[in-house]
Amino acid sequence: MAEFVVEFGKDGRPVEADGRLDAAAFHRNHQAIWAVLQPFLAGKSGDVAEAGSGTGQHVVHFARHSPDIVWWPSDLNEQHLRSIEAWRAHSGLSNVRAPLSIDLSDPAWCPQMHDGSGPPELLAVFCANVIHIAPWRVAEGLFEGAGRYLRADGRLFLYGPFKRGGKHTAVSNAVFDTSLRERDAEWGVRDVDAVEQLAAGAGLVLAETVEMPANNLVLAFARREQG
Ligand SMILES: C[S@@+](CC[C@H](N)C(=O)[O-])C[C@H]1O[C@@H](n2cnc3c(N)ncnc32)[C@H](O)[C@@H]1O
Repeated sequence: MAEFVVEFGKDGRPVEADGRLDAAAFHRNHQAIWAVLQPFLAGKSGDVAEAGSGTGQHVVHFARHSPDIVWWPSDLNEQHLRSIEAWRAHSGLSNVRAPLSIDLSDPAWCPQMHDGSGPPELLAVFCANVIHIAPWRVAEGLFEGAGRYLRADGRLFLYGPFKRGGKHTAVSNAVFDTSLRERDAEWGVRDVDAVEQLAAGAGLVLAETVEMPANNLVLAFARREQG
């Protein structure tokens, strides 16, 4: 069953003194996700933003394997921002920037995206396990921001459980969906069709769908003219 975490990053190893959180899901999914991102990023340079970074473990792992890419993690939650910063410091990597405080329900994301102190344009946006554990306006803001900030050949990679054609792809995802909706009526596993419609409004098209372990998908969106 897909993971449902109330206090994210506290179901793995104990919290470190510097605030580093550990999410059990990271250990299960990061290699499979990197196998999807790596071919797109290979041979390219530029800036990649992670939306809803959580603990910060993904961004550090990916940055270690892509020295020509500058990574910009982000989150909304203070504890998560602290953990991301602690993982960044612990890694010693120069290609991970300090985490941005981004509330994805704001389509502008954060001042740094347009005041010159953030990335000028994005080669990619990566977002894992966020839009089903948040109101739909978070998905709207994620896509609107991606539509604004992605460069012409950029991509938005969205990882998580999804319905296809209105149907769950596994019983475990249906159970997970029910548990999400019981916790918050605005949460829930999203349908690929609905996400594609949102993408269209932001000038993006679904360029690739990759089936992932544990009944998850990666949806990769490109600019309409690039798709
Ligand atoms: C289940 S966690 C996933 C974290 C990480 N992407 C991963 O896969 O390990 C969901 C994350 O979304 C973040 N989040 C929730 N609502 C958000 C919002 N409105 N803006 C930005 N991040 C948000 C949470 O703080 C949390 O870090």
